[in-house]
Amino acid sequence: MLIHSIQAAAERLNQGDLVAFPTETVFGLGADAENPQAVAKIYQIKERPSNHPVIVHLAPEADLSYWAKQIPHEAELLIKAFWPGPLTLILQRAAHIPAAVSGGQSTVGLRCPSHPVAQALLREFAEQRPNGQGGLAAPSANKFGQVSPTASQHVMNEFATEIAADELWVLDGGASEVGIESTIVDLSRLGEGVPATLLRPGHITRQQLSEVLGYEPRNKDAAAPQVSGSLKAHYAPKTLLQWLPASEEAISALIQSMHGDATVTAAKWAVLVFDPTAYPAEYESVDYIAMPRDPQQYAQRLYALLRDLDKQGYARLAVQPLPEDESWEAINDRLQRAAAAFEG
Ligand code: TXA
Ligand code: MG
Repeated sequence: MLIHSIQAAAERLNQGDLVAFPTETVFGLGADAENPQAVAKIYQIKERPSNHPVIVHLAPEADLSYWAKQIPHEAELLIKAFWPGPLTLILQRAAHIPAAVSGGQSTVGLRCPSHPVAQALLREFAEQRPNGQGGLAAPSANKFGQVSPTASQHVMNEFATEIAADELWVLDGGASEVGIESTIVDLSRLGEGVPATLLRPGHITRQQLSEVLGYEPRNKDAAAPQVSGSLKAHYAPKTLLQWLPASEEAISALIQSMHGDATVTAAKWAVLVFDPTAYPAEYESVDYIAMPRDPQQYAQRLYALLRDLDKQGYARLAVQPLPEDESWEAINDRLQRAAAAFEG
């Protein structure tokens, strides 16, 4: 059911049921973070492995010391600069917060969204609690490994069965402005001398983090906390997606080979082009889709477009390679993982 009442959504969450809600990044699949049975329902309907941690979303006035054992200086700096907004911090989890939210790990991922509907929901949810503290565990509201939803309709489509069975409500709130998932920074190992570590690039860039931290966050190492969004294959549309080969010859060879394949002869493919000066030659069997040249606009558009293209029955999606500079890092990361889902 699609609903518009913050109050009804908060009550339902407080009863241990699920409500998907809008955030500025993507829609979240929310449950009471302190109710392990409610959190288990997320894993169940998402079909996600239960050892994967989920992010806890908090209202701006939440007491962080209720959720995390310590708030290191780096966390204070990043929070001051970027909250509310698309940044998730991994900290050591306070002892009374159930391990279920972090897949059994000793940490907790915290994020304060800037979306007004998310904030109103988080506030109302916390106000309904006896101690005034409450957070919503919420992964992106899609089935495991799929493209994240950036509109309530995406969630309605993805969970049609669960919604029909009244296992899930969806709180409306317009399209997500950022369009890709939050930047995730691990601060849980500062005590062991491991500096801030970038677990997932996002709208808040490496450069912005460096300016606030005073040093560049390091890249993920093998001992860093687990992030399912960093699996090699993730964020994939249903239609085969690949990078557009670099040369005209390779592109035309690819098209020739597809026409030799009986299963795709009649079908077209779609090419996402962001740089019109480097358009590949026009081919009859190709639809060119003009993408924004600005990385933030590209990100905002990307997931909704992939969902649309999935419905149109293309044989294949190809993406013109993007600039390597860091303003494109998060988009390169997502598309790389989407393409990897189709590599043998
Ligand atoms: O923008 C976002 O972050 C969206 C919206 C809904 O807030 N959420 C989102 O959630 O992308 P999800 O579950 O699809 O991805 C969250 C990532 C996962 O890869 C998870 O492994 C990681 O955050 N994560 C959450 N808690 C963690 C923890 N305690 N330690 C390490 N990684 C954690
Ligand atoms: Mg996700």
